[in-house]
Amino acid sequence: MNILVTGGMGFIGSHTVVELHNSGYTPIIVDNLSNSDKTVLNGLEKITGQLFKFYEVDCNDNRAMESVFKENPIDGAIHFAASKAVGESVEKPLFYYQNNVGSLLVLMELMEKYHAPRLIFSSSCTVYGEPDFLPVTELSEKKPAESPYGNTKQICEEIIEDATRASKRIRAIALRYFNPIGAHPSSLIGELPLGVPSNLVPFITQSAIGLRGPLAIHGSDYNTPDGTCIRDYIHVVDLAKAHVASLQYLSGNAQCDFDIFNIGTGQGNSVLEVVETFKKVNECSLNYAIGPRRPGDVEKVFGDVAKSRRLLGWQTELSLEDSLRDAWNWQLSLSRKS
Ligand code: UFG
Repeated sequence: MNILVTGGMGFIGSHTVVELHNSGYTPIIVDNLSNSDKTVLNGLEKITGQLFKFYEVDCNDNRAMESVFKENPIDGAIHFAASKAVGESVEKPLFYYQNNVGSLLVLMELMEKYHAPRLIFSSSCTVYGEPDFLPVTELSEKKPAESPYGNTKQICEEIIEDATRASKRIRAIALRYFNPIGAHPSSLIGELPLGVPSNLVPFITQSAIGLRGPLAIHGSDYNTPDGTCIRDYIHVVDLAKAHVASLQYLSGNAQCDFDIFNIGTGQGNSVLEVVETFKKVNECSLNYAIGPRRPGDVEKVFGDVAKSRRLLGWQTELSLEDSLRDAWNWQLSLSRKS
């Protein structure tokens, strides 16, 4: 099966390309390289021994996307391509709506036209906002989005639900990711944040290696055991495997038109727990200081993943320790290259 992977050069996309290949699928990568680098292809080739088809194309470019569909019979698509910086989305809402919502429309219209029947969409636990009950299940209430970025995820889920209801061709799954971290254990691919990382783990690894100053912990006065925010941190390889399981589920369950799954570990860890685990598993020091809360941060969120386990037959295999060791080894390999 040919699987179109939009955003396939990015952090989650590239790890999913590897897992697709490992499971016998043929990934075809589309990426505009706005937040990724062509060298990712070398890492993919070293890991898999395969040179993948890559189109440097923007998913909003209808004509260029159509030529990809004309050149390749597409059996399914995994749509990662999107902008994802929460703060930037507040400053450039129109860009976020155009880029994230517009690209989904282009993709789904072409999938309909060229009879590509399966879609896996990257959604986010951001749709739950600050949950009333934990862990959140797929039936938990969706809260008004805190940012245009979060709103694009909610809108895209709704578009897919409406479109799959009307379509005789496309069936889809939205995966609500919790917090993806880590890197491939080979250290040949990983996260490549542009500029100063706003996410916790890339900042930790860059700080520990001396590229950044001390980590600022955004608030220690939350209603949590140690006062810092709690998240469900999932190893990116486990997350990548959830996409393969979702494709297999769509293939084996013709009655499924659209469904939603939480993709996390089911366990929450605080910022301080992440910091302490990082120091312990990697035997390195990390300077940090407690700073003020970051606007828009949710106090605690982690997922109930029973539905994914039951229906997709998927569950995480790697621990927080594995994630933080692999993230650090990736950072070390980047510094050896530079
Ligand atoms: N944090 C710090 N210092 C930092 C960076 C982060 O203390 O320098 C804290 C944050 O305040 C938060 C936790 O670490 O408590 C995790 O923050 P991240 O930025 O790594 O992740 P978020 O949970 O804020 O955001 C992630 C994704 C979003 C997605 C969201 C869904 O990056 O795309 O999960 O909840 F929308």
